[in-house]
Amino acid sequence: MRLAYLLPLGPLAAVAFDCTPTAFQSILPQGATVAFAYPLSEGSTFQVPVGDVAYPVSPTKLPELCVVHIQVTSSATSHFGFGLFLPQTWNERFLAYGNGGFAGGINYLDMAAGVHYGFATMSTDTGHNSTSGDVTWALNKPEKIVDWGYRAMHGSVDLAKQVVEAYYNCKPKYNYYSGCSTGGRQGIRDIQLYPDGFDGVLAGAPAWWTSHLQTWTVKLGLYNLPVDAPHHIPIGLFPVVGAEVLVDTIISDPQGCDFFPEALLCGPNVTNQTAAGCLTAAQIGTLYLIYNDYVENNQTFVFPHLELGSEAQWPFLLSAAEPSSYGVQYVQDMLLNDTSWNFWDYNYTIVELADKIQPGNATAYDYDSRRSTPAAASSFSTTVYPTL
Ligand SMILES: *[C@@H]1O[C@H](CO)[C@@H](O)[C@H](O)[C@H]1NC(C)=O
Ligand SMILES: *[C@@H]1O[C@H](CO)[C@@H](O)[C@H](O)[C@H]1NC(C)=O
Ligand SMILES: *[C@@H]1O[C@H](CO)[C@@H](O)[C@H](O)[C@H]1NC(C)=O
Ligand SMILES: *[C@@H]1O[C@H](CO)[C@@H](O)[C@H](O)[C@H]1NC(C)=O
Ligand SMILES: *[C@@H]1O[C@H](CO)[C@@H](O)[C@H](O)[C@H]1NC(C)=O
Ligand SMILES: *[C@@H]1O[C@H](CO)[C@@H](O)[C@H](O)[C@H]1NC(C)=O
Ligand SMILES: *[C@@H]1O[C@H](CO)[C@@H](O)[C@H](O)[C@H]1NC(C)=O
Repeated sequence: MRLAYLLPLGPLAAVAFDCTPTAFQSILPQGATVAFAYPLSEGSTFQVPVGDVAYPVSPTKLPELCVVHIQVTSSATSHFGFGLFLPQTWNERFLAYGNGGFAGGINYLDMAAGVHYGFATMSTDTGHNSTSGDVTWALNKPEKIVDWGYRAMHGSVDLAKQVVEAYYNCKPKYNYYSGCSTGGRQGIRDIQLYPDGFDGVLAGAPAWWTSHLQTWTVKLGLYNLPVDAPHHIPIGLFPVVGAEVLVDTIISDPQGCDFFPEALLCGPNVTNQTAAGCLTAAQIGTLYLIYNDYVENNQTFVFPHLELGSEAQWPFLLSAAEPSSYGVQYVQDMLLNDTSWNFWDYNYTIVELADKIQPGNATAYDYDSRRSTPAAASSFSTTVYPTL
């Protein structure tokens, strides 16, 4: 490692050592190895490595920086990787980015957003390579599941901070986190376990209640199945529902929205529902299920309903011939360890099992030292539609 030299650049610190695998390797603990490290000049494109199926888009027009990929052994049967963009002109801050869904991959595109502001940015592959809706990597891989749950993120953040400090010969003045959906969950989970890790966490739409969210995904999908049933709402009619909810294309307060599903009821002799913009009584029954909380046995709150105004996102959850893989594969590959499990066999015991196993200890419900339970989350539920 070369000796540090620091230029008097005001708030901007200067680089302290070489952007080479050897330099980085020399400061890493045992079990961590440099996969690659090299400098990129201003205006460069970083070519995302083949295999990063979750985040394959290569960021362009980068500022001058050093890119590093480090692999870390997390157990006898697992490892995770993380990437770092270390800008030449550094704002003395560290910013970690989260993932989405079950996506396993280093999110270089998001890292590029922050590095333009001068942040040293980091993203982890969470211990596996997969696209967002693919959970098959988890089957009978308990250590990989723990990496995904919280260990890879925390391990990456910890080590990345050390690398940043060594690289600039200066600790980051502030440490931040930003992520959405699973990324939001990862941020909350990390500060619940390690409250001093960040000065600020931006947790967008956090998918925090993993054991209920993923299982509800199956339940929700079943409301609109099978596809040949009279109650099935085909994807072509989702915009019809959306238009009735949104009226003037905007909804500021979904929970205050005064929606009357029966306004969509088809008149007599309709042959083309899409053209007529209407739903049958059976399909309106499905709407009531979608817009109502998942309450087991009429008394146990399981999960809040989709909001009015969410219709444009229904195709992802409600359009296929089976419930989303985010639910079905979670049950098959993390809970039951049985890929032959049939989603038609779904029942509430699946939720109970998820609460018991808590795969990867991923659920971010450890809100304070008194360990409040997710029951508090029932405040999410407000609008309750009468069941038909
Ligand atoms: C993901 O794929 C890359 C490229 O093939 C590989 O280097 C890395 O080790 C893989 N990550 C994990 C956690 O298996
Ligand atoms: C399925 O395997 C995971 C580890 O991969 C384990 O935590 C879980 O308890 C298993 N499920 C059952 C029902 O045995
Ligand atoms: C609907 O169809 C029935 C049977 O063909 C017919 O008797 C009735 O007049 C039609 N109603 C309307 C409103 O067109
Ligand atoms: C039903 O109406 C829609 C919208 O007007 C049209 O695109 C579609 O082709 C029609 N379907 C049939 C079977 O006529
Ligand atoms: C569910 O509970 C409500 C309110 O207590 C009650 O009015 C309704 O009859 C119950 N429904 C069933 C199916 O038990
Ligand atoms: C609920 O589902 C589980 C797992 O598929 C199954 O073993 C159990 O028999 C089911 N229980 C009922 C009451 O159907
Ligand atoms: C899960 O995390 C909580 C802290 O949020 C901890 O108390 C608990 O022991 C962990 N459970 C397992 C099985 O690691």
